[in-house]
Formats: sequence, structure tokens, C-alpha cells
Amino acid sequence: MGKFLSILFCILISNSILTLAQDCNTYTFTSNAIFATCVSLPVQNSHLHWNYHQTNGTVDMAYRHTGVSASTWVAWGLNLDRTGMAGTQALVALQNSTGERAYTSSVDDYNTQLQESRLSFEVRNLRAERVNGDVVIYATLVLPSGRTSFNQVWQSGPVTNGAPGRHAMNSENRNSVGTVDFVTGALAGGGGGGNVLHRRNVSLF
Ligand SMILES: *[C@@H]1O[C@H](CO)[C@@H](O)[C@H](O)[C@H]1NC(C)=O
Ligand SMILES: *[C@@H]1O[C@H](CO)[C@@H](O)[C@H](O)[C@H]1NC(C)=O
Repeated sequence: MGKFLSILFCILISNSILTLAQDCNTYTFTSNAIFATCVSLPVQNSHLHWNYHQTNGTVDMAYRHTGVSASTWVAWGLNLDRTGMAGTQALVALQNSTGERAYTSSVDDYNTQLQESRLSFEVRNLRAERVNGDVVIYATLVLPSGRTSFNQVWQSGPVTNGAPGRHAMNSENRNSVGTVDFVTGALAGGGGGGNVLHRRNVSLF
């Protein structure tokens, strides 16, 4: 029994080491893209990987949300002027009949249906893929000039009849907000802008 337990323990330990190792810096992208910076976001099993180019203020990035079912949408975005959901300039991914669809959505208010729309800044090379239960959104962001630190929001919710539906309001959903600095790699928050999200119980994003 003792031996069995210690073997089990070893398996559990090595599994969690493997999981941790794959979480951020050592994750291998199918594109073989190498990102200089990677941060694990505090909730919702998500990671943000990027290269920031100071010369032209662009960010090549990948948002990776792990353990996503086929009927789940994921989204990540920057909120330039506010905290929380309203105003977020989002990248959205959801599975359609041909694969993982990626598009942009400017989340103007709490009644959003996460419909496709242009963002206030330019986004290039947007695509998404699903690999071993992870959804990865790739994009190049042309950051608003002179800024490298932003409020960020990330989220996931159900897909119903091909359309994104309202996300749950668990603490993970309410705390998936904070700030990101693309130069220093510093993250802050995780709850900061969530109060607004919490109070309005009608939000989709
Ligand atoms: C921005 O600069 C990087 C690094 O020099 C370069 O690889 C990239 O192509 C540039 N992007 C644009 C949109 O000019
Ligand atoms: C599914 O997503 C792909 C990739 O974005 C897109 O090219 C295609 O038009 C989408 N199909 C439907 C039916 O929406």
C-alpha cells in the first residue's frame, strides 16, 4: 500500500511538473513561433505570449486558453479607456463547421453579442487554432502610439447554435481582468475592473 501510494505520488508530481512546464515558456506552438515573453494569467487557465517591437510599436502575440471544449468561445482583449468589459477591443475564437474561427469584436456595452466588428486599432495576421484542447489566438496588434501598458480582459463562454452566449459569472469570470505592460511583462490586477462586471449581471463578455 505504501509503495503504491508513493508510486501514485510520483506520477502526480511528475504530471504537475509537466503541466507547469508546458504552461508558459516551454510551450511549443504548432507554427514554431518563438515568443520572448510569456505570462500566465491569474484565472481561467490562460497564457499570453508575445514579442514587442519597439521600432514600430507592434506586438506579435498568442493568447492561449487551455482545456476548452468544442462548444466554448474564448476571447482576449485590451480596454484602452476603461477597466472591465465595456469598451474592450477583443479577439474572439470559436469553432465553426470548418475549424476555429477568429475575428475581432469591439465590445461597446454590456448587451454585446460579441458580433464581428472593427477594433479601434489595427489587427493583422489574426487566426486561431485548436490543439489538444487548447485554443490559441494569434495576432499582430498595432498598438495605439505611445502606449505599452493597457487594461486587459479575457473570457470564455458557451457557443449555442454557432453563436457566442453569455458567460458564467463565477469568480474566475469576474476576475479575468487586469493590466498588462508589453515592455516590462508586468501583470497586475485580477479583480480590479471586475466590480463593474459583477454588478451588471447581464454581461456576455
Ligand atoms: C515591426 O518591426 C518588427 C521588428 O523589426 C518587424 O519584424 C515587423 O515586420 C514590423 N511590423 C510592421 C507591421 O512593420
Ligand atoms: C469558419 O471559420 C473560418 C476561419 O475563420 C472561415 O474562413 C469560415 O468562413 C467560417 N465558416 C463559417 C460557416 O462561418
